[in-house]
Amino acid sequence: MTDAARQFIQPLTFAALTGHKVITSLWPQLDSEGSDGNTDSSIEHIAEAQWADALVVAPATAGILAKFAHGMADDFLTTMYLATTAPVLVAPAMNVNMWEHPATQANLELLRQRGVRVIEPDAGALACGMVGPGRMAEPEFIANSVLNALGRSHDLAGEVVLITAGGTREALDPVRFLGNRSSGKMCYALAEAAQSRGAKVILVSGPSALYPPAHCELVKVTTADEMRAAVLGRMPDATLVIKSAAVADYRPSVVADQKLKRTGPLTVELLPTEDILAEVVRQRKPGQLIVGFAAETENRLENGRAKLLRKGVDAIVVNDVSREGVGFDSDRNGATFLTANTATDLPEMSKRKLADRILDEVVGLRRPQSLLVELSGAEPQAQVSEDPEAEVFVAGAGSRRQIIIE
Ligand code: PMT
Repeated sequence: MTDAARQFIQPLTFAALTGHKVITSLWPQLDSEGSDGNTDSSIEHIAEAQWADALVVAPATAGILAKFAHGMADDFLTTMYLATTAPVLVAPAMNVNMWEHPATQANLELLRQRGVRVIEPDAGALACGMVGPGRMAEPEFIANSVLNALGRSHDLAGEVVLITAGGTREALDPVRFLGNRSSGKMCYALAEAAQSRGAKVILVSGPSALYPPAHCELVKVTTADEMRAAVLGRMPDATLVIKSAAVADYRPSVVADQKLKRTGPLTVELLPTEDILAEVVRQRKPGQLIVGFAAETENRLENGRAKLLRKGVDAIVVNDVSREGVGFDSDRNGATFLTANTATDLPEMSKRKLADRILDEVVGLRRPQSLLVELSGAEPQAQVSEDPEAEVFVAGAGSRRQIIIE
């Protein structure tokens, strides 16, 4: 936050709302004991500039536009602007006369020429009491502009994505359960990514310490049975189902009414739970895409491919959960996106990035696949002319003709 921004809002407000540190100075900030608590802070603007996917200044004052345009680097934001190679977006907000002033317009022109994306302000009643252009664009419009700048269009707009998350818990007695190490991080990242690409998200989640993304519909469950009921109940609304939860495969056949006493060895009979994914596939409607996950510790691709075929899903995301630092309860993950005839390697990255890469692949499944038709002697155009959308290419001459319908 710049000095000017802090005249309006306290850094603590942003820190509390975002859960992230708020940087207010170019220089190390000393605590009461004189320690900066952060030896890297003097080069933090460089680190942040390299790390950021985009630099968005909203609202951007006439002053900050002038500093950007003329390369004045005297605080954290302006030095970061010079140091970053990421896309820069500014959403100006100011008095109408300041906006229309030739100096401001010349600065904006300079910035546009240098590749800065200017999100034009709206016209209307301004805080200063005047009417005209100068009101910051609507936050949703700014968010869409950022997504476009990042090459992330709203390619899931209109989709209703049902995502299962976390692990389930199967009670043994009133205080104990069989569970697993799933934190929900991978699935919540998928929910956030799907939502930012325009989807409506229904998140059916086992117990997790995470906050769900705002605006998604959260359905909390505990056991595999509850997850099954929630998924099958919401499934008719979904156009895409992603089964990323770590569902228990077994549950104790008997749940003790009272806490079990320690009286020596204990044998517990386990019964298999319902396979929710298999049931989802059985109940699928035309046009519904179904993507499973596979957590494997050995023979990843062979086991993943066998699961894909056995469960009848459109694709399966196979992750190796035997390696340190990825998979369960980590912020990072790597996977292979398997379909019936493709295998796309998605190397280790943050779970949030991986979520977008998985969705890129899922969006690819929606694209019509080329269909190769072989004809002997028949007139190719006549076979496909009923479909006005189809593009026809005659791909070979001779007695056998091939046409590719895109
Ligand atoms: O939550 P994190 O800490 O971020 O960890 C993420 C993760 C490792 C849990 C996640 O990336 C993952 O791999 N999820 C799937 C875990 C799993 O249960 O895999 P599986 O191979 O046992 O199951 C295969 C598929 O069948 C899964 O889509 C699973 O949801 C589904 N299944 C399994 C059992 C069951 N009774 N019903 C099901 O629908």
